Amino acid sequence: MSEKASISINGKSHELPIITGTENEQAIDISKLRDVSGAITLDPGFKNTGATKSAITFLDGEQGILHYRGYPIEQLAEQSTFLEVAYLLIYGDLPSADTLKDFRSKISRHTLIHEDMKKFFDGFPSKSHPMGQLSCLVGALSAFYPESLDPNPSEEDENLTIMKLLAKMPTIVSWIYKKSLGHPVMYPRNELNYVHNFMNMTFGQITEETTIDPAVVRAMHKLLILHADHEQNCSTSTVRIVGSSNANLYASISAGISALWGPLHGGANQAVIEMLENIRNDGGNSAKWLAKAKDKNDPFRLMGFGHRVYKNFDPRAKIIKKACDDVLEKLGIDDPVLDIAKELEEAALKDQYFVDRKLYPNVDFYSGIIYRALGFPTDMFTVLFALGRLPGWIAQWKEMKANKEPIGRPRQIYTGSTKRDYVPLDKR
Ligand code: CMC
Repeated sequence: MSEKASISINGKSHELPIITGTENEQAIDISKLRDVSGAITLDPGFKNTGATKSAITFLDGEQGILHYRGYPIEQLAEQSTFLEVAYLLIYGDLPSADTLKDFRSKISRHTLIHEDMKKFFDGFPSKSHPMGQLSCLVGALSAFYPESLDPNPSEEDENLTIMKLLAKMPTIVSWIYKKSLGHPVMYPRNELNYVHNFMNMTFGQITEETTIDPAVVRAMHKLLILHADHEQNCSTSTVRIVGSSNANLYASISAGISALWGPLHGGANQAVIEMLENIRNDGGNSAKWLAKAKDKNDPFRLMGFGHRVYKNFDPRAKIIKKACDDVLEKLGIDDPVLDIAKELEEAALKDQYFVDRKLYPNVDFYSGIIYRALGFPTDMFTVLFALGRLPGWIAQWKEMKANKEPIGRPRQIYTGSTKRDYVPLDKR
């Protein structure tokens, strides 16, 4: 017999079904609560609210577990490639060698972007933030591919829109970077794999053949895989909720990019490096900065620390910390902010304030140090997060549509003025 939860409202008792997921996590199904009782639930920040059932990513924050479609993140980061993980997230299973070859080849047919889009790049001031540009450019793809506007596309057309977005994103990201330098853009080279091609467009020069160090390409695969999905976070929920109005894929992802930009979410990777630089320029006194983070009258937070879901450790941070050491050693880089980061982490993990609140380094704490070692400027970091998160957003948007989920529309408890009569201007 299935389990029920009971709730008593104004002396009347109601039974509500309990839903159990494949990893035994439980939820009380309140979808009929208002119908039977007139009451809604209130949960600012959705700290206890499941917005959907999803078969894409499993996350256990207490135990530091992260699986994509059942596969542990540690195995994928070590053994897989970014495009293979993208396929896994979007289509549900690891591809066979032939399927992966076909997927790669189809994507490589769409890597160019419409030449008219270059005018957008020319229109942005040279110092405008890459995330603002990215959100705008991805949304603008819908203008170039109007077939994506059909809310009920055939499977083939939906897949075409997905392929186009996956294919064009690295080109857009690298062109944003090239334009910021005032350099000519590099066109895609379809014989290179997805990540290698991206690195070539970003760091290559049209004046000479550039060799991208295979260690750098491998490090980038790993970083992108680690960012590829993270279930119902702020940007993913945004993508799903925008898509639930039948908005097209480009518009939905563009909204997700905007949500990711904030420093409490993906923007934290840029904020971490800026914070570490500030600490360094201030003499490297980590105790002083920890005290600031603990001071409730000071808005400063230790960026790259804490997570809504992880309350023990973030498995992505563990992998990235190790990758950070490996990449810096391999490239022969000695970055003083890495020492500051490690000192800060060690001090925070021993500090009662951070212990009590279960605050640990998250994915953003060390990722910026690697991006910097690879040659990316600080304001490109969150764009790289978006490039990595793209397959996850697409998979979640596709799942939301396949589940025929209703339009997202939360309720509220009204706390404003009760009814009052209008007072004409000359009587106020
Ligand atoms: N530094 C200092 N105090 C903190 C921090 C921090 N980084 N994070 C949380 N706290 C404190 C917070 O002040 C609160 O204290 P109290 O209970 O005394 O009021 C307590 O810990 C709980 O924090 P919260 O803000 O209620 O927790 P949340 O789940 O709403 O927020 C968070 C999660 C990630 C937004 C938050 O930890 C934070 O702001 N971290 C810094 C920004 C950051 O690194 N963001 C990247 C997140 S991981 C990448 C991603 O997927 O987005």
